[in-house]
Amino acid sequence: IAPLIVTLDGPAGVGKSTLARKLAGELGLAFLDTGAMFRAAAFTLGEGAWDWPQGVLQQKLGAFEFSLRGSGENTELLLGGQPLPEAIRSEETGRWASKLAVVPSVRAYMKMAQIFLGRTTSLVAEGRDMGTVVFPDARHKFFLDADPDERARRRCRQLEGQGRPADFAAIAASIRQRDDQDRNRSIAPLKPAPDAMLVDTTHLTEGEVLEAVLDRIRGLR
Ligand code: C5P
Repeated sequence: IAPLIVTLDGPAGVGKSTLARKLAGELGLAFLDTGAMFRAAAFTLGEGAWDWPQGVLQQKLGAFEFSLRGSGENTELLLGGQPLPEAIRSEETGRWASKLAVVPSVRAYMKMAQIFLGRTTSLVAEGRDMGTVVFPDARHKFFLDADPDERARRRCRQLEGQGRPADFAAIAASIRQRDDQDRNRSIAPLKPAPDAMLVDTTHLTEGEVLEAVLDRIRGLR
């Protein structure tokens, strides 16, 4: 039987990764953080890679081998068999990833790699275009959104929790810049699939979001 795919799309800082991890744990599936794939590519190729010729990018990306290990909350995304460095989580790498993510050959490569992973593994796939482009036939689709300032506040709290510096104004600006770029690009822009359930998480706790999504999957709403 075909693997079960659940898609989770939405803008930066909306809580997709946290939800994807918990959902994968509840459902016993692996989770795929596709933003981490773009971040790993941006981090490895370095600043300015988005301006390289398509052929060069294609060749470099051809050497990237993503795989998944484990399942549920403990799913690990590996590149060349190795865990991804923590440094890919920086706001700067996020902006580079967003620039690289408009390049057609990069999108084509990532889409292929994501479809390949979903062919053999049941997944909660999280990103920007999971329900629209990569897994249009997914069994369950969700689109998370929240007020941009609330997303910036969450990101600040997350950084502070890790003992890292958090500048609210800079983070809010960076989130808006990435949103603009992700929503307005011509290939695979950030938008809900027509058959996705929309969840506005601005005034919901993580637990409430998880419950709403699980209820939908279990056919309760
Ligand atoms: O989700 P995250 O913030 O880690 O993603 C980093 C960037 O990667 C996003 O701003 C977006 O430009 C890009 N991305 C994408 N398609 C996806 C996932 C991420 O274009 N499916």
